[in-house]
Amino acid sequence: MKQIGVVGAGQMGNGIAQVAAQKGYQVILSDIHEDALNSALSTISKNCDRLIKKEKMDAAGKAALLENIKTTTQLTDLDQCDCVIEAATENVDLKLNILKQLDEICKTEALLCSNTSSISITKMAAVTKRPAQVCGMHFMNPVPVMKLVEGIRGLQTSDDTFNKVRAFTEKLDKVFVEANDRPGFVVNRILMPMINEAVFTLSEGIANEEDIDQAMMLGTNQPMGPLALADLIGLDTCLAIMHVLHEGLGESKYRPCPLLVKYVEAGWLGRKSGRGFYSYDD
Ligand code: CAA
Repeated sequence: MKQIGVVGAGQMGNGIAQVAAQKGYQVILSDIHEDALNSALSTISKNCDRLIKKEKMDAAGKAALLENIKTTTQLTDLDQCDCVIEAATENVDLKLNILKQLDEICKTEALLCSNTSSISITKMAAVTKRPAQVCGMHFMNPVPVMKLVEGIRGLQTSDDTFNKVRAFTEKLDKVFVEANDRPGFVVNRILMPMINEAVFTLSEGIANEEDIDQAMMLGTNQPMGPLALADLIGLDTCLAIMHVLHEGLGESKYRPCPLLVKYVEAGWLGRKSGRGFYSYDD
């Protein structure tokens, strides 16, 4: 693989573009909004500056990394990519539509991966004419820091595709864990009910935000508490994943906390909107 397409320039997409470009891949980052592309490039540039400050990168390294990333608002510009990673908003119709378009646009041998955090890879593969070449590639946030990629095998994913995606992940210096295609895969099947329960704990007045997070950080050695983590992930994403777990597994224990629903209705989506369980002035 030489040329990698990334669809969606949000926090996951720009992180994926950064790590791939840092490892020397030619990256085409696409988004329908020019603003999102500009903001992604500015985030990547700031991340490089952070690395330069820590003497983990030099100015030439930053220039080379940025040189490896081209941006576009046209999905058709991904036609020569060897692998495209879809990292759009966690919405099933949107993702199916993107997969369908990529299938029409991309060369026949290209792999189509999705960074979905919970939507069925099998369903996405089924809307393409190359279901054996569709695979889940689930990065964690913040992508440049987190070592894990969950590799999700849809029912139709071939061994060849899966092995290529595993090798690509390892080239990115990430650790690949294999998961079958069930709602939430591994990480979100376990993580999201914990976050949802933290929101119930808040809404029932058992403790305030700071104390819930402090309790989990100091009591269970997590690097950040569940409410702060929800703000980092995005409350809309957390809610979307809870809906997938609830509908896909059909058990009331996955019912999204009504307070989480209200925060999303209010547009309090976490860090990206400036307010979630905490406020972010910057
Ligand atoms: N981009 C790039 N680098 C970043 C970064 C970002 N957004 N945020 C932090 N870093 C880097 C820092 O530069 C620093 O690097 P060095 O170790 O080289 O110095 C390192 O990460 C640690 O950062 P800080 O010292 O500033 O802060 P911290 O020690 O509190 O760590 C954290 C921040 C890495 C986010 C840490 O709190 C953490 O690991 N939190 C948990 C994150 C997590 O669980 N993510 C998974 C979410 S689940 C998911 O993503 C899946 C899904 O589908 C929802």
